[in-house]
Amino acid sequence: MTEIIQIERECGLLTLRLNRPEKKNALTRAMYSHMAEALKQADTNPEINAVLITGSAECFTAGNDIADFIQQPPGSLDSPVFHFMLNLLECRKPVIAAVAGAAVGIGTTMLLHCDLVYVSRDARLRMPFVNLGLCPEFGSSLILPRLLGHAKAAELLLLGEGFSGEQAAEWGIATEALGSGEATLAKAREMALRFESLPPEAVRISKQLMKAPDRELLRKVIEEEGALFTQRLRSPEALAALTGFIKRH
Ligand code: COA
Repeated sequence: MTEIIQIERECGLLTLRLNRPEKKNALTRAMYSHMAEALKQADTNPEINAVLITGSAECFTAGNDIADFIQQPPGSLDSPVFHFMLNLLECRKPVIAAVAGAAVGIGTTMLLHCDLVYVSRDARLRMPFVNLGLCPEFGSSLILPRLLGHAKAAELLLLGEGFSGEQAAEWGIATEALGSGEATLAKAREMALRFESLPPEAVRISKQLMKAPDRELLRKVIEEEGALFTQRLRSPEALAALTGFIKRH
């Protein structure tokens, strides 16, 4: 059976490749669980220096699987999506993302917690939470206004406007935008492998220092967002929008 998350090891680099192309790599509970487990192993295994999260050269991810949102909505901090995101937040090793094509919903949110983010210039990022009757998640309501200012963040979070990989790099959401999906994946791998030759303890301490000032505040915001998000998933507004998507497909 083809793995929905392909986990590859190259020297000290662990690559998690989203592999559900027929559904644009939409993330199911099982996929979150595999990724959560892989991140935990990467964090504790001294032979792993860095983690690369990627999709294909055509698509990163269409976000949370919409059918899962209806049938098995996350109900608590104990659900697979929370395990994945909290392991991402807590990962002491550098996490690199390679993004081509669509990065929707959590596909964009997760980038805010990666260390290096390479995107194709024509990648399409979007956080259509409000459009689906939902609300921001995993710290985006804190991080984006700080990064972009309230007015620009409002365009992304209150209107659900999409933006390109090129804009993501201009605004500091991504490290660099590249000319094609293939070039993006290659650059991300090249930069991730750089950690092979850097002293791991110095990298770990430096990342910890960069993350420490916001750690407690971020956890508090994520809990507040999580409680509201799980409530919103059961709201008439969200159920109408989510079932509307299913009916259209
Ligand atoms: N959950 C479940 N299935 C999804 C999905 C999702 N989030 N996103 C796409 N799919 C499925 C479609 O239902 C379709 O399946 P089908 O062929 O069995 O009908 C398949 O993936 C291809 O999707 P399609 O919309 O035809 O591809 P596209 O290239 O025209 O558009 C996207 C790609 C990602 C822009 C578009 O699919 C999209 O907007 N998806 C929803 C994103 C979303 O709202 N995510 C949740 C955010 S909280």
